[in-house]
Amino acid sequence: MNQRLDIGENVELQPLNSLRVAARARYFVDVHSTDELSSALEWAAQQGASTLILGGGSNLVFAGDVDGLVIRVRLLGRRWEQVDGPEATLVLGAGENWHDAVLYAASAGYRGIENLALIPGTAGAAPVQNIGAYGVELRDTLVAVTALDRETGQAVRLGNGDCQFAYRDSLFKRTPGRYVITGVHLRLSRQKPLQLGYRELEEYLGEKAPPDLDAVAVAEAVMAIRRRKLPDPAMIPNAGSFFKNPVISQGWYESLRAEYPGLVGHSVPEGVKLAAAWLIDQSGWKGFRNTRVGVHNRQALVLINHSGGNGADILSLANRIRQSVSERFGVELEMEPGVVGGAGHP
Ligand code: EPU
Repeated sequence: MNQRLDIGENVELQPLNSLRVAARARYFVDVHSTDELSSALEWAAQQGASTLILGGGSNLVFAGDVDGLVIRVRLLGRRWEQVDGPEATLVLGAGENWHDAVLYAASAGYRGIENLALIPGTAGAAPVQNIGAYGVELRDTLVAVTALDRETGQAVRLGNGDCQFAYRDSLFKRTPGRYVITGVHLRLSRQKPLQLGYRELEEYLGEKAPPDLDAVAVAEAVMAIRRRKLPDPAMIPNAGSFFKNPVISQGWYESLRAEYPGLVGHSVPEGVKLAAAWLIDQSGWKGFRNTRVGVHNRQALVLINHSGGNGADILSLANRIRQSVSERFGVELEMEPGVVGGAGHP
C-alpha cells in the first residue's frame, strides 16, 4: 500500500511556509485522499518517524529542520449538502484554499463566511485556530469537522460543540497531533443578516446598506481593508497576526487605562480584550526592521521576514517584543503561530 506514496527526502520547506523561512523535512509527502493519509501515517510509524501535518503553512514558524515526515494535506473537493430552503451546508476538503472557498460560497449567494475573505491557508487549518476577522469567527458557521483520530485510527465526525472553540483556540490546538482534519462542514444561508458591525468595515461601507449589499460586496470590502494594511504574504513573507489579543480583567483594564488613556480594548465575557497591535505600537516596534526581519509599518501585530530571516530571527524578534510589552504594560503576549521543527519542537 505504501508504494502509492511518493515520499521525498530532504525536502526544502521554504516555499511551503508563508514566512518563507528555510527549513528541511527529512521526509515529505503530499496526500490527496484519506487512504493516502492513513498510509503516510502508517509509513511513519513503521520508520519510527515523527509526523508534522502541514496545510497552507501560513500559521507556523519553522524553528529548524523537521526530523520526521511532513505530510501536506491536499484533500480537495467542494460540495453542497442538505440544501433546505435558504440554507445549505458547504463541505470542503481540508486541502481546499480557504479564500477561494469564501468567494465560491459568496458568489453562489450564500452568507456566513464573507467576512473571512483573504485569510491565507487551507480549509482544514481554519478550525485549528478558529479563524476570525471583522466580527465573524469560523465557529459561527461550522457544524462539523471530519478528522482522522490518530489515537484510535478511526475517522470521526466532531460537531461544533466537540471542537471546544474559543478565540483563536480549539480542541485541535489543545491536543496537537491527535486529529488530522480531513473535511469541514459549514452551514450557510442566503438570508441571514450580513455582519457589518466591525467599525472598520462599517466605515468602509459608509452609506451602503442592505439590500444594496450582498455577500460578494462584503467579501470585496474585507479584501480592500485587508490589502490596505496587511502585507500580502506572496510579496512580503509573514504569518498574519503574530500574537493573540490578550484578555485581562476589567479591574486591571481600568487601572491600565488610567495610566494610558489611549489603551484600546473591548469587552468580552471574560474581561477586556486588548489590542495587542496597540501595545506593540506604543512600545515603539511598528516599522522596526533589522537586516532580515521586522514589524509591519501598517499593522504592528504582523512580523515580516524581509530578507533571508530564519525561524530563530523571527522568534528572537518576537521575544524582544514580548519582553518590552511586558516591561511597559505588565501584559504577557501569547504567540499565535505554532513553532515547529528544530530541537524541542514536534
Ligand atoms: N492598532 C494600533 N497599531 C497598529 C494596528 C492597530 O494601535 O499598528 C490598534 C487600532 O486602534 C485598532 C486596534 O489596534 O483599532 C485593532 O486593530 P485591528 O482592527 O487591525 O485588529 P487586530 O485586533 O489588530 C484582529 C485579528 C486579525 C483580524 C482583525 C480584523 C487577532 C490576533 N488578529 O487584529 O486577524 O484580521 O482583528 O478583525 O485577533 C490574523 O489572525 O492573522 C489576523 C490578521
